[in-house]
Order: sequence, then structure tokens, then C-alpha cells
Amino acid sequence: MKTQMLGTGEWFRKANFLPMKQHVDSVPPYQREIYQKGTRGQLPRIPLHFEELQARAQRELPARAFAYVAGGAGQESTQRANRLAFEDWCIQARMLRDVSRRNLTTTVFGREWRAPLMLSPVGALGLVREQADALVARAAARARTPMVFSNQASVKMETCASLLGDTPRWFQLYWSKSNELVASLVSRAEACGCEAIVVTLDTPLLGWRPRDLQLGSLPFTRAIGLAQYLSDPVFQSHLDEVKLRPSGPITLNSLEVFYEACRNYGGSLWKNLRTRRPLKAVQQFIDIYSRTDLTWGDLEFLRKHTRLPIVLKGILCREDARLALEAGVDGIWVSNHGGRQVDGGRTSLDALVEVMAEVQERLPVFFDSGVRSGADVFKALALGATAVGLGRPFALALGLAGEEGVLEVLESTLAELDLTMAFAGCCSIEDIRATSLLRKQ
Ligand code: FNR
Ligand code: LAC
Repeated sequence: MKTQMLGTGEWFRKANFLPMKQHVDSVPPYQREIYQKGTRGQLPRIPLHFEELQARAQRELPARAFAYVAGGAGQESTQRANRLAFEDWCIQARMLRDVSRRNLTTTVFGREWRAPLMLSPVGALGLVREQADALVARAAARARTPMVFSNQASVKMETCASLLGDTPRWFQLYWSKSNELVASLVSRAEACGCEAIVVTLDTPLLGWRPRDLQLGSLPFTRAIGLAQYLSDPVFQSHLDEVKLRPSGPITLNSLEVFYEACRNYGGSLWKNLRTRRPLKAVQQFIDIYSRTDLTWGDLEFLRKHTRLPIVLKGILCREDARLALEAGVDGIWVSNHGGRQVDGGRTSLDALVEVMAEVQERLPVFFDSGVRSGADVFKALALGATAVGLGRPFALALGLAGEEGVLEVLESTLAELDLTMAFAGCCSIEDIRATSLLRKQ
């Protein structure tokens, strides 16, 4: 008999006693793929430990990009506390339950998602990599993971939408001083298939962020993170009236910033340099970016302008959750913006517990801030979240390895969530939500 040499991949398949069925095998697909690649000497591009991912990003990304993504408000105590809060809760492992068939799918606003995981809106990713949001959209489509378009994206929503195929997408809104602009952004979001409008409430002003301040770096001054505005007819229609304010003495650095703003603005570089329209756009953006006088009553305007579900992002206490319910919104997103706004603030996970107690099952409650792994996703779901957002891990991975990096982070997180389910004796997302975590003393 002729002996046949098996390739490593084939060996893995043949060594399997059970017929190949999803999740029935003892090494689930993504884990299997990593080990298979490992036998060929091909290792994951993105460190699987967040601490290492961050350390590598610090070495390899431009200083301004790393400061912006990794940095938080003040002494970054909220950011640290977000992480520690996850360690206050333990997952109970359970034995001898049939967990051979696990299903991660879930339904959000009537739409089936692959899993209760999405990409949180992250702005100014153009600092981190060219074509930023477009690469994220490609990875999201490959991982069939919903994406939330940031109001501060570096690639306009229409382009990202066209790359997502059938993958769900939402639009995150920063409520600017111009309601006309708000209405325009919302109608564009509807036109490109967004299935919810997320209004971020915790950033009426940008937080005190020492890492950016130390470098004197604000991406928007270089026209990074302005794609939704620059592509907006309402925003553009007001640019002609803008009178540029004097900007102080010209230095080599200010010329470099001006040149970069002209490049990021798009179109003819020469025309941009001549008309200084990019500078007008930056000035107009800074002037209208946010409203500090927004109140609950203003939500009525949004309700009138869209039939899409409205989700309020940044809710952190029982009282605001109650007001959100009274305002008739469709969802709440518990988040402290990854500790980028308030230093010494409360953790998002603690807030989730309190908000869930108020909301119960009346509204879907989404969650982010501090999620670094599949086990973290499991904990947030067990504490009541309908779906969970991933932030910094994908932003840093984008910087290190572009689309492939984002894809790896998503697949790793989902693979670990799937395994954690099995260890905790859960076969579905409903099972996870019915599971109680143990609180450490
Ligand atoms: C953000 N976040 C954010 N949120 C939002 O509503 N609109 C935005 O444009 C941005 N931009 C942004 C940029 C960067 C670099 C970061 C890190 C975060 C907040 C984001 O949606 C999410 O709430 C946090 O990222 C969650 O914290 P962790 O888990 O990333 O630490
Ligand atoms: C930030 C804004 C863009 O956190 O949300 O930087």
C-alpha cells in the first residue's frame, strides 16, 4: 500500500474523529486556523494580549496617533478603573452540560447579527492609517460584524457603506450647532442603510487629554476626522461665508499643518493652497462642532427627522436612564467614552449594572469602555447588555496591520467569546444573559 504524506492542514482534518460540523469539533475554527498557520511558522500579526498590542503600537505608530488613541482624560484613572471593574466580576465555570452546539447570533432592532459584538464609533482614525475607516469597513464586512460610523470619520459614510455589503451599520451623531447639518447627516445615514442613529452625549466639549495637549496635537486642525463634514452639502454651502480669523505668526510647523489640511481636504492641492478653503472648513468645524446647551427637549427634533431607532450613548446613571426612557428613545448605550472625557469618573461596567436595574427589559442597553477580550464581552452580556462595542483594540490593530489587523482582533474576540460560553455551560446569547456573574468581595 502506498503511504501518503499528509499536509499539516489535512492531518488536522483527518485526525478529527467527528465529522466536521460547526462547533462540534473540539478545536473551534478560528483557533484551529491559528494553530494550523503556526505549524507553518505563520504567527498572528496582532498581539493577542491587549497590553502587548498597546506596547507594540507605541513603538510602531507615529507619536501623535498613539497619543490620540491610547490617551484618556487627565491622569487616566477612569480608563484604568474601566479595566479593573471587569476584574470585580467572575464567570462561573459549569460542568457536564452539552455545549457542543453554540449559537452566537442575536437580534438587534429586528436584524440578525452574527454575534452581540460591534465596532464602536472611533473618530480621526486617519491619524493612524490612510483610508482608515474604509479598511475598518472591509474588515467588518469580512467578520460580519456591525460597524458604527463615527461622526468624526476620515472616510465618508457613503464609501464605508458601499464596502459593508449586507453587514449592519449605524451612524453616530455629534449634535452640532447647526440643526440643518444634523438633519443632513441623518438623512445621509438613512440613505446609506444605517439602521440606528447613535447620539453621543458625553462630548459637548473635548476632554482634557494631557497626551494630546503635550504634543499640541488635535487631529481636526489637520482636517483629519472631518470626512462627514467635508462631504456634506449643508456644511459646504456655508463655507463661502467663512471669514478666516488671524492665526498668529507663520512658522515651519504651521505651514506643515496647513499643507496637511490641504492634502486631507481632497481635490486639487494647488486650489486648496490658493483658496485656503481647507482652513475655512477647519475653522467652521471648530466653531460648530458641538452644543453645550443641548437638553432632553432637543431630542424631539431628531425624532421628527428620522424613523430610525435612536440610541443615546454616554448614559452612566439610573436617573439619566429614566429620563431616556421618558424621552421615548429606542436604546441606551452605557459608555464613559473609554475614559477620554471625565478623569476620576465612574466605570462603565458599574454604570451598566445600575442602568440595567432601572431599564430592566424595556429597552436594549448597549455597552462599551474597557472591553479587551471575549471574556469581557461575556461579562457585559451576563450583566444585561444587548450588544457590546469594541474600541481601542481595533483602532490600534488598524494602525499595526490595517484591514487584516482589525479582522484578527474581531475574530479573536469572537472565538474567545464562543469558548467562554462553552466553559460557562451556555449555548446561546439568551443563556449568557440568564447567567449570573459572581461579584468579588
Ligand atoms: C472614541 N470614541 C468615540 N465615540 C464616539 O461616539 N464618537 C467618536 O468619534 C469617538 N472617537 C473616539 C476616538 C478614539 C481614538 C477612541 C479611543 C474612542 C469612544 C468610543 O466609541 C468608545 O466609547 C470607547 O473607545 C470605549 O473605550 P475603550 O474600550 O476603547 O477603552
Ligand atoms: C474623541 C472624540 C472624537 O474621543 O469622540 O476623540
